[in-house]
Amino acid sequence: MVTALITGASAGIGAIFAQELAARGYGLVLIARSQDKLEQLAHTLQAQYRVPVEIIVQDLTEPTAAAIVFEQVQQKGIAIDLLINNAGIGDYGDFAENDRELQLRIIQLNILALVDLTHRFLQPMRQQRSGSIVNLASVAAFQTMPYFSIYSATKAFVLSFSEALWAENQKYNVHVLAVCPGPAGKAFFKQAGFPSVLVDAAAWVETPATVVVRETLAALDQRQSIVIPGNSANQLLAAFPRVLPREAVASLWKTILGFGRN
Ligand SMILES: NC(=O)c1ccc[n+]([C@@H]2O[C@H](COP(=O)([O-])OP(=O)(O)OC[C@H]3O[C@@H](n4cnc5c(N)ncnc54)[C@H](OP(=O)(O)O)[C@@H]3O)[C@@H](O)[C@H]2O)c1
Repeated sequence: MVTALITGASAGIGAIFAQELAARGYGLVLIARSQDKLEQLAHTLQAQYRVPVEIIVQDLTEPTAAAIVFEQVQQKGIAIDLLINNAGIGDYGDFAENDRELQLRIIQLNILALVDLTHRFLQPMRQQRSGSIVNLASVAAFQTMPYFSIYSATKAFVLSFSEALWAENQKYNVHVLAVCPGPAGKAFFKQAGFPSVLVDAAAWVETPATVVVRETLAALDQRQSIVIPGNSANQLLAAFPRVLPREAVASLWKTILGFGRN
């Protein structure tokens, strides 16, 4: 039995990863803050696919979260073959006006928890000479995004970090994949506090979360270092910062994301 640990598994892309991996016969360890949603998902997947599903209710913005998760997994005697660092949040707005504590919590979740979990679960994978780590970045990783500055910067970190680990760990037969979706669900944008006009605009170029997950799992099978799932708009979004001057990219996103406030 192979086992996957998924952070942010109670909703959105993480819940679809859980569904698709259970269908492939993976045992699961699901992590999020919402106990009721995790229990319901675990119950459904166990009944539907007859795979073992454990849940760990944990706020990953707590600095000790990764240590707690790793210890609980060890106490349950579970070996993790696939780590999916999926949990991530953003906060729309002018950085200077946004809540400082929230900006720091976003960095804690999107970067520090991801790095901490990766470091811990990488050790046994390297010893066993097998395993995979999937890190959720975003097409935002390629951009400079005024009014979404902390989020895009955290995702640039995730992309760069993951590609470096992809190369470092090839000789240990441990595979690391960065996933860079474009818009893939209104919930994320609503939770990040985007104005409704931008939530609706993002929905126009949305890729269904099931497509994001299936293309990610296909890229994992191909041992790619990066995947930009979904429609060609996402490929374009990733490509144009490579050809435009950096100021032009920042100004363009200032116009788009600052709609109504510039
Ligand atoms: N949706 C998009 O358009 C899009 C595009 C590009 C990249 N991404 C990236 O894809 C990943 C998943 O996004 P999504 O759209 O599926 O998000 P989502 O629908 O908002 O779900 C977020 C998940 O993360 C969990 N989570 C949030 N804060 C947490 C915390 N402090 N501790 C533990 N878990 C926490 C949530 O569960 P609880 O609330 O129960 O804790 C939920 O399960 C993120 O990294 C995001 O940046 C998303």
